[in-house]
Amino acid sequence: MKLIFATHNKNKVEELNLLVPKSISLLSLEDIHCFKKIEETGSKLEENAKIKADFVYHKYGLNCFSDDSGLEVEALDGAPGVYSARYAGAEKNNEANIEKIWRELRGIPNPKACFRSVFHLNLHGKSHSFEGRVDGTVLFEKRGSKGFGYDPIFIPEGYEKTFAELGDTIKNKISHRAKATVKLLQLLKQHL
Ligand code: IMP
Repeated sequence: MKLIFATHNKNKVEELNLLVPKSISLLSLEDIHCFKKIEETGSKLEENAKIKADFVYHKYGLNCFSDDSGLEVEALDGAPGVYSARYAGAEKNNEANIEKIWRELRGIPNPKACFRSVFHLNLHGKSHSFEGRVDGTVLFEKRGSKGFGYDPIFIPEGYEKTFAELGDTIKNKISHRAKATVKLLQLLKQHL
């Protein structure tokens, strides 16, 4: 079975390729010559994941899934959430995004936050949605050099180090994306 991962991020496809059963041929948007940037116009992670998966399913007639993730800070009513990549502006500047979080959270001790990831699968025209979440706290300094985005300021529950200090081996076991991926794979295995 051909399955499209509606992303232009090769790293994400390679990571998933190691996990899907051999009977599934996982392809990126480039692999099917879709070079279009599918606009993420939703105001929720769920909506954006669905927009991308449905676009590919309807245009190419191929089973497809997509993901959308973000950091949700409790004291900021869930912001930056779906706007995580462009919290401080359209240029998607990680440094500026982190500075903005700190500004908004000034005076709040140990702010609670979570990373949430939503996968949307369009399989033979039927919608399936999976969510993964990891709770933790926001740190008011950056620690660690691994990972990306908000990793240097996020300490997952049960740990004393940030995601950027913990690195991929641990992050890939406990992260929001890892948890959503397990659920996606469980469903795919039932349909093989
Ligand atoms: P995406 O939907 O996975 O591309 O994530 C959108 C944005 O959310 C990223 O650009 C990051 O700012 C933030 N984000 C999502 N997942 C993570 C993560 O695992 N670590 C740090 N930041 C993340």
